[in-house]
Amino acid sequence: MYFDQKAFADPPYEEPARQNFFIEKCRSIIEERNSGRSLPLTACPRAFGCQMNARDTEKLAGILQAVGFNIVDDDGADLVIYDTCTVRENADERVFGRLGFLNNMKKHNPDKIIGVCGCMTQTPGMAERFRSRYRFVDLVFGTYNVYKLAELLYRRLTGESQVIEIWDKADFIVEDLPVKREYSYKSGVNIMYGCNNFCSYCIVPYVRGRERSRRPEEIVEEVKRLAADGVREIMLLGQNVNSYGRGLDRPCSFAELLYKVSEVDGIDRIRFMTSHPKDLSDELIEAIASIEKICRHLHLPLQSGSDRMLERMNRRYTKEGYLDLAARIKKAVPGISLTTDIIVGFPGETEEDFEHTMDVVEQVRYQSAFTFQYSPRTGTPAAAFPDQVPHQDVQRRFDRLLRRVQEISAQLTEEGVGKRGLALVETVSEKNPGCVTGRLGNNLMVHFPGDESMIGGIYDVMLTEAKGFYYMGRLEK
Ligand code: SAH
Ligand code: SF4
Ligand code: F3S
Repeated sequence: MYFDQKAFADPPYEEPARQNFFIEKCRSIIEERNSGRSLPLTACPRAFGCQMNARDTEKLAGILQAVGFNIVDDDGADLVIYDTCTVRENADERVFGRLGFLNNMKKHNPDKIIGVCGCMTQTPGMAERFRSRYRFVDLVFGTYNVYKLAELLYRRLTGESQVIEIWDKADFIVEDLPVKREYSYKSGVNIMYGCNNFCSYCIVPYVRGRERSRRPEEIVEEVKRLAADGVREIMLLGQNVNSYGRGLDRPCSFAELLYKVSEVDGIDRIRFMTSHPKDLSDELIEAIASIEKICRHLHLPLQSGSDRMLERMNRRYTKEGYLDLAARIKKAVPGISLTTDIIVGFPGETEEDFEHTMDVVEQVRYQSAFTFQYSPRTGTPAAAFPDQVPHQDVQRRFDRLLRRVQEISAQLTEEGVGKRGLALVETVSEKNPGCVTGRLGNNLMVHFPGDESMIGGIYDVMLTEAKGFYYMGRLEK
C-alpha cells in the first residue's frame, strides 16, 4: 500500500523548517481547492503603516504566494490580511470599519478568509475584542509572529474557526522564508526590530518590543541574494538604525554595517531609515560621506525645535544639538538633502515653543517634512499629560508650518534646475505615458521621456524644470 510518509510526519520544531513544512501542508489544500476552479484563489495582503509594515507585508505575500494564492490588490480577494498601524489614536477604528465591509463581502463568499495582524493587534484587549465581537475575522496575529502565517493558516484551513495568536514579546528573529517584493529593482532590508527609545508620545516600543539586531553576516547574505535577483537599491530598515548592533555577540556599529553592505556587487544605491539624532555618530557621518553608494539623502526626525518639548518627548537632544548635527552633516556631505518628521501641538506646546520649531525649519531647510498633529495615543505617557493643546491652536500652527515647509521645499527643488542627477526609473508616468518616473538620489522624482523597458535602470538625467516637489527632465547621452 502506498504510504505517504510526509503526510503523517510531525512538524519540525526548528524554524524556518517548521514554517516550510506548513507552507507545504497549506499548498496541498489550496492546490486541491484550485483544481476545481477556472482561476486560482486570490489573496490580498495590505500594509497600512510604515516601511517596517510594508516589508512585513511582503513577507506575508511571499508565504501566501508559496501556498498557491494569486496575489492581487483587491479587498474582494478570497483571503485578505490587513497589516495594521496603530501609531495614531483613530487608526484602529478605521481598521474595524473596513473589517465591517469585508464581513459584508463574506456573505457572498462564505469561504473568504479575513486576517488582521501588525501593530494594532499588539495593543491591550485586542484578542478579547476579536474573540467576542469580531468572530468573522479568521486569523489574528501580531508583530512578533508574522513568519508563522502558514502555520496559523493551516490551523484555520483544517477546522479551527478563529485562530488568534498574539505574543507579548520575542527575543529571536526568524528569517529566510519566501518574500514577494512589491518592486523588482528595490527592496527594504530589516536590519533590526523593535525600539528602546520610548519617546513619550509613541506606541511603537510597546507594539514592536525591545531592539533586536540581525547579525551583519545574515544581512549581507540577504543583500547578496537581492542583488542576484536584480535589486539595485536597498533601504536598510529599523526604528533607530543608528543604534544598530548593540547587543550582538560580536559588536558591529551601523557605520561598519554600511561598509560591509556597500561591498555587495550589483547594489548601486543604499538608503536607510530611521536615524535618531541622539545616536548619529561622527563615524556614521564619515561613512555617509565616503561611501558613494549611499544616497545623498538623510531622514532626520526633529519632532520639535523646543528644548522644553524635546525633554517632555524624551528625545534626548536639544535644539542646539540638532542644529549642530545638521550643520556637520551638510558640511561633510555637500548637497545632501535632509527630510524630517515634526509633531505639532504636543501637550504643553506654547506659541514660543512652536516658534523654535519654525526656527529650525528655517535654518535647516528640509527638502520635505512629514508634519503630524499630535495624537494622544492611549498607552503612552504623553496621552495622560494634563496640558493638551486646544485643537484650533494645533490646526493654526500646523497650517503655518505646512505652508512654510512647502515653500522651502519648492525653493530647494528650484535650485536643482539645470543640474544633472542619476535617476532610478520606477514606473511609466501615469499622467504622461510617453514618460517614465525616476527617483533621484535625494529622493525627489523626475519625469522624463522613456518607456517601460527602462524600469529598474539608472539614467543620467538633466533636470530641466521644477514642478514644486518634482522635476521634468531629459535624458543625457
Ligand atoms: N522611529 C521613527 C518613526 C516612528 S513613527 C522615528 O523615531 O522617527 C513615525 C512618526 O510618527 C514619528 O516620527 C512621529 O513624528 C509620528 N508620531 C508618532 N507618534 C505620534 C503621535 N502620538 N502623534 C502624532 N505623531 C506621532
Ligand atoms: Fe517611536 Fe521614538 Fe522609537 Fe521612533 S525612536 S519608534 S518615535 S519611540
Ligand atoms: Fe505604525 Fe507599527 Fe510602523 S504602529 S508606524 S506600523 S511600527
